[in-house]
Amino acid sequence: MMIRGRSRRIIFGGDYFPEQWPEATWQEDIRLMKQANVNMVSIGIFSWALLQPDEDTFTFDWLDRVMDLLASNDIDVCLGTATAAQPNWLTRKYDDVLFVGENDQRVAYGSRQTYCVNSPSYRKAVRRLAEEMATHYKDHKALALWHINNEYANKNSMCFCKNCEKAFQRWLQNKYGTIDNLNECWGTIFWSENYRSWDEINTPQMSAGGRNGTKLLDYKRFLSESFFTLYLEEYNVIRSITPQVPITTNFEADWSKFDHYLFRDHLDVASLNLYPDPGNPAAYKWSALRHSMMRSLLQKPFILMEQAPSQVDWYPVNVPKPPGLMRLWSYQALAHGSDSVMFFQWRASKKGAEKYHSAMVPHFGEKSRVFQEVSDLGQELTQLAEIAGSNVDAKVALLLDSDSWWSVDSPYGFGSKSLQNEVFWMSNAQPFPSVLVSYFGELEYYYEAFHALNIPVDVISADYDLSKYKVVVAPLMHMVKTGFKETIEGFVRQGGTFIATYFTGVIDENVGVFLGGYLGPLKDVLGVKVEEYCPLPPGGKNRISFPQAVDGFQNVYQGSIWGEVAHTTTAKPLAYFEDDYYAGSPCFTENRYGQGRAYYIATRPNEDFMRDLIHHLATIHHIEVPVLPAEVELVTRSRETKKFYFYLNHADGERKVKLPQGKYRDLLSGAVCQDTLKLERYGVSILTDV
Ligand code: GAL
Repeated sequence: MMIRGRSRRIIFGGDYFPEQWPEATWQEDIRLMKQANVNMVSIGIFSWALLQPDEDTFTFDWLDRVMDLLASNDIDVCLGTATAAQPNWLTRKYDDVLFVGENDQRVAYGSRQTYCVNSPSYRKAVRRLAEEMATHYKDHKALALWHINNEYANKNSMCFCKNCEKAFQRWLQNKYGTIDNLNECWGTIFWSENYRSWDEINTPQMSAGGRNGTKLLDYKRFLSESFFTLYLEEYNVIRSITPQVPITTNFEADWSKFDHYLFRDHLDVASLNLYPDPGNPAAYKWSALRHSMMRSLLQKPFILMEQAPSQVDWYPVNVPKPPGLMRLWSYQALAHGSDSVMFFQWRASKKGAEKYHSAMVPHFGEKSRVFQEVSDLGQELTQLAEIAGSNVDAKVALLLDSDSWWSVDSPYGFGSKSLQNEVFWMSNAQPFPSVLVSYFGELEYYYEAFHALNIPVDVISADYDLSKYKVVVAPLMHMVKTGFKETIEGFVRQGGTFIATYFTGVIDENVGVFLGGYLGPLKDVLGVKVEEYCPLPPGGKNRISFPQAVDGFQNVYQGSIWGEVAHTTTAKPLAYFEDDYYAGSPCFTENRYGQGRAYYIATRPNEDFMRDLIHHLATIHHIEVPVLPAEVELVTRSRETKKFYFYLNHADGERKVKLPQGKYRDLLSGAVCQDTLKLERYGVSILTDV
């Protein structure tokens, strides 16, 4: 990424908390940063109490000294606005600051992210701090990037305080206009839920089970927008004082807590914090999806703002990254579109909450394996400047819709449902046909099927420009909102391929069910309507059979989780369910529509089906499917005619790759290669055409 005043380069560094250390250590830090080729650090992130020791005092001297020291050593600063950890004096002085949980209990202070997103006192203090900081540092040479707050909603995603309740009532009034309209849209006639005035509407805490789904969803939407408007409180102040400095905020890997697409017009660069579990051999697939989500958000390179140099301290068991894995995963981030490799944190804490977490400089010091690997990587990245700014060109898009997500999975963002937490689930959401259905799980399943074949995928919301994609997949698009029908019909008419999956098109944006056949407004483009849904029991399967040969498909596959009774109108059934009372009902259909095609899949098909489906689509749209050994990932970044091929070996041993015809230069080793590429365990090669 091009940061203010800098030429093209890969950003390398991490979160730096010098306030934890005596100033003598700062000099030592700089020496080691130079040794490791660190060129940017994020500072100030949680230092509010130091910056503003009481309501009317601001003390920037210590931060001035840090900023000056970094500037004089040519290290850029990503400056945190410190607002993710409010000081205790603020909390004690104003009783609206702390958030309130499900049981009407305020959280205790003594940690970070304890604030209520709608607290007027907190918001006022946030604006003031942002203004003081921006005014103080606007001309500082080291200031390269603003880092607002930290991981919005990580710990405080749901608040049920009286301020939120009041703000929710205003939000509803604005949305529905009249209380009658709200009652109509929410269907409150059922179970005597009718509200007579706005101030009767309470926040939707735990009730007796089986609650109003529209109310739950509206509360989630309201809080989601609240996080965005909280961001704007700082964004607007900072933008007006330092219009020339780019602004970011770092998002965590879990996007369930608010709609990230709300932010997209108010971010100069998107930033990701990513902590895959080194104990999970498939973790790289999990990461690939999160990288793709972040790259797609602004459709340009992003910043990997945080990752662990080795282990974290918050999985039940925190295994370290063995030698080579940190490097491999750093290159995976670059491959998928990051222009940086950054870590949490620079120097391992001696005290406080995160002392067991790994750091670039571990407790052992500079002679450690981890610091050695960090420095080696920093050195290598200095050779890769030309990659910065290039991007991944995806022809396939997955649609991510927060409303469908929150309607299918718990709107409270408690993670996926399971049979084990059934009681918990029932008391926290609306009743639902099957706890086995997971919106994000379905999206992940489709992403991984493309990823397994090394086909790049963007993850976007439906209002992005779809015309650059050949295939658009909408896994579990349960809610179909106004305009979506026209968007998809237009895309298919122009020659695109659209894929919809089971339990799609069931509700409208007010959570009202479409009558006369599910798929609702998508019935025309798909040429199908669904009469009944038939969730399968845990472990249950239904066969999917193809009566006639279809290019690239076998005769029989299996589906799980879900079955349906569907009727085709204009679509051609390609495969049918073979078991149960709905045997003979279409399970996989194709509808020719305009220049394009729309497929409907009425179950969760097994992996063999997914592989054959994707090959089938690739043939139709001339999408290349590279042939690679298992667990070798290939991602291509490009800028104009220049291409960078990232080969990443996630396997536990050496792998040999057959290269496409041509000669290539390896950017890391400088070697010229052709025909075959040998990759060590965790090996990486970045090739360009010679
Ligand atoms: C992130 C957070 C960091 C640090 C890190 C530890 O969620 O932004 O400040 O706590 O986790 O893994």
